[in-house]
Amino acid sequence: MSRAHRFVLLLVLLGINSIDSSNISSCIPNTPCQCYLTQYSFTLLNCSYSLADLPIFNAKNVLNITKIIARNAFNQWPVQLCKYSNIQILDLSGAIFRSSSSSIDFSCLNQLIHLNLSNTQLKQMPKFHPNASRHLQILDLSNNYLRMIDGQQFQIFTNLISLFLQNNPIQSIDHFEHLLNSSTLQSINLHSSSVDLALKQPLTVEQWIDIAHRWSNTTKLFMVRMNHIPFQSIIPTPDQFDRFSTDSMKSILRTLMDSTFLTLFNTPKCDCVPLRTYQRMFSFVDYPKKYSSALFQSVQCLMADGITHARLFDRRTTIDLRCTTLGRKLSLLPSFSSSASTLSYAWIFAIIFCLVLV
Ligand SMILES: *[C@@H]1O[C@H](CO)[C@@H](O)[C@H](O)[C@H]1NC(C)=O
Ligand SMILES: *[C@@H]1O[C@H](CO)[C@@H](O)[C@H](O)[C@H]1NC(C)=O
Ligand SMILES: *[C@@H]1O[C@H](CO)[C@@H](O)[C@H](O)[C@H]1NC(C)=O
Repeated sequence: MSRAHRFVLLLVLLGINSIDSSNISSCIPNTPCQCYLTQYSFTLLNCSYSLADLPIFNAKNVLNITKIIARNAFNQWPVQLCKYSNIQILDLSGAIFRSSSSSIDFSCLNQLIHLNLSNTQLKQMPKFHPNASRHLQILDLSNNYLRMIDGQQFQIFTNLISLFLQNNPIQSIDHFEHLLNSSTLQSINLHSSSVDLALKQPLTVEQWIDIAHRWSNTTKLFMVRMNHIPFQSIIPTPDQFDRFSTDSMKSILRTLMDSTFLTLFNTPKCDCVPLRTYQRMFSFVDYPKKYSSALFQSVQCLMADGITHARLFDRRTTIDLRCTTLGRKLSLLPSFSSSASTLSYAWIFAIIFCLVLV
C-alpha cells in the first residue's frame, strides 16, 4: 500500500468518526435534541419531550434506516414513523403518548425485531398487523397503564422471545395458557403494580397436559416473573395429580425452574399433605441446581402463625410444620388426607400411650 493510499484510508477511518461527532449538535431546530446519525440508524438524545414528530433527515435515505433510538423524546405519537418502514430496532421509551393511546399503530412497520415502548403512558395494547408482527422478538411494554393482559393478543407474534409487562397496574390476565404455550417465548415479566392481580380463568388440567407435552422434550427454560398470584393456584393442584402423570409434573416444574412467583398478602397456608406431594414432585425433577433455583427460593406457603412464610419445596418446611413421619404416613393414605390434623393427634396419643406402657 502506497503512502498516499494509507493516508486516504486513515482519512476514511477518521471520517467515519468525525461524521458522527460533527453531527452532534442541535440537529433539530428549536429543540435541545442531539443526534447521532449513520447511514442506517439514528439516535436522538436529550430531546426532553420536545418532539411532536420524527424528523426526516434525508428523504432519499428513509428506507435504509433500520434502527431508531429516541428515549424521552416525543410528546405525542410520531406520525412520520410509518415513512421509516424498514425499522428493525425501535426505542421510543419515555415518550408521552397519553392522549393518543388508541392511535398507536405499528401495522405499517413489518420488519420490527425489537420494540421498546416502556414508560409511554399506554392504556391499551398498541395495534399490530398480524403479517407485520412475525419478526418481533423483544417487546417491552413495561411501566405503562395496562390493566388487562390477554394472552390471545400475543399469538400474532410468532417469533416473540421476551415480553416485558412489569410495572403495569395489571388486574386480570386472560388466556395465560397462550403465553405458556408459545413455542418461542422464553421470558415474560408480569410483575404487576396492582395487588389485585388475578388470572381470569385458572388453567384447566387439559391445558396443563398440553403445555407439559410441549415442554416434555425441550430443554428450554421458561422464565415467568409474577407477583400476587400464588404458584399453587396456577399449576395443577395435588388432587388433580391422579389425572396428571409424574412426568408431566416434572417437565412443568423443570421448565419453570428460573421463574419467580412472589406473594405477600395471599400466600396459601402450609398444609402437610399437599406439601408432601409438592415436595415429592420437586425431588423427582431432573435439574442440577434445583435447590438454589429461583422457583425453589420464591414459592412459599404461610405457616400456622399466619406471619411466617416458608418455602414450599423445602423439606425444612415439613419439619417446622411438625408433619415429619406422621405426615408421610398420612400422605400415603389419600382417603385420610382431609382430616390429617385430627389424625396426627390420634397418632401422637397412640405413640405416647405405647411409650407409657413400655
Ligand atoms: C445529555 O444527557 C446526558 C445524560 O443523559 C448528559 O450527560 C449530557 O450532559 C446531556 N447533554 C446536554 C448538552 O444537555
Ligand atoms: C427499554 O427502555 C428502558 C429505558 O428507557 C430501558 O430501561 C429498558 O431496559 C429497555 N428495554 C429493553 C428490552 O431493552
Ligand atoms: C417430542 O417427542 C416425541 C417423541 O418422544 C415426538 O414424537 C414429538 O414430535 C416431539 N415434540 C416436539 C415438539 O419436539
